[in-house]
Amino acid sequence: MSLQIYIDGNFYSREDAKISVFDHTFLYGDGVFEGVRVYEGCIFRLQQHLERLLDSARYIMLEIPMDIHELTAAMVEAVRKNDIRNGYIRLVCTRGVGTLGLAPWLCPKGSVIIIADSIKLYPEEYYENGLALITVPTQRNRVEALNARVKSCNYLNNILAKIEAHNSGHIEALMLDQNGYVVECSGDNIFLVKKGEILTPPTYLGALEGITRNIVIELATKGNFPVKQEPFTRFDIFTADEVFLTGTAAEIIPVIELDKRPIGEGKPGPVTRSLITAFRERTLIDGHQVYPDG
Ligand SMILES: Cc1ncc(COP(=O)(O)O)c(C=O)c1O
Repeated sequence: MSLQIYIDGNFYSREDAKISVFDHTFLYGDGVFEGVRVYEGCIFRLQQHLERLLDSARYIMLEIPMDIHELTAAMVEAVRKNDIRNGYIRLVCTRGVGTLGLAPWLCPKGSVIIIADSIKLYPEEYYENGLALITVPTQRNRVEALNARVKSCNYLNNILAKIEAHNSGHIEALMLDQNGYVVECSGDNIFLVKKGEILTPPTYLGALEGITRNIVIELATKGNFPVKQEPFTRFDIFTADEVFLTGTAAEIIPVIELDKRPIGEGKPGPVTRSLITAFRERTLIDGHQVYPDG
């Protein structure tokens, strides 16, 4: 069956799913989005994703023409329509059609777009063997300029970092702030483990408040590994026992190298492995059921 894409209450084929070139999300990246997973016919942590979307929209003063219940119903419908049992949903709320100027107040109504599709995962070898990171020259946006807690459709900061990582043969980039503190990766949050304690950068440094990040904090705390949200530098990564990344698409992925230097023993560690197991169990629990038969 071909993909059916939701736009403002109707479904369209891939070829016919179109928005105006005058929509400010196209012209300026002025919009917000979410990436959400479907596990075994349930939309994982849907409420938290929608709450983050509404916060992002509020921050940029974008009025979404649907409330949280309507968004939930539309996402359920999009998943059902495409018969997705395990997959990924991209929800995009645009600023809408306006003039060629910046003024968002001249865009009367935004669009809501939902793409429910299968997901292309990182190769399994990264989960088994870990991945190598590179620190890139592009710094994460200053929060005073563009707060990373808004998940906006403007990802150029992250894309530049991704290009720099790719140019040196890496799949993910470590991004620092202007003081050299570790912030996050181009599309994932970062954690380190040292002597049984877990650290992740605080969001005030300019990291997205990842849904997966928050789940890991919950799981680690339950497993008696205290998680501190405090600034650290590359020194702490070079001397860490373990490092891992978190994200909706990546889930939890071990990191075994930064800037060509091995981390810990240069292989995925026991804390990361136990969190991966606990996370996978969680994905089967916290979902919003899509299909009546379960
Ligand atoms: C810049 C950035 N950081 C972190 C994350 C991880 O967030 P989440 O766990 O909500 O997917 C993402 C994922 O979209 C991201 O784009």
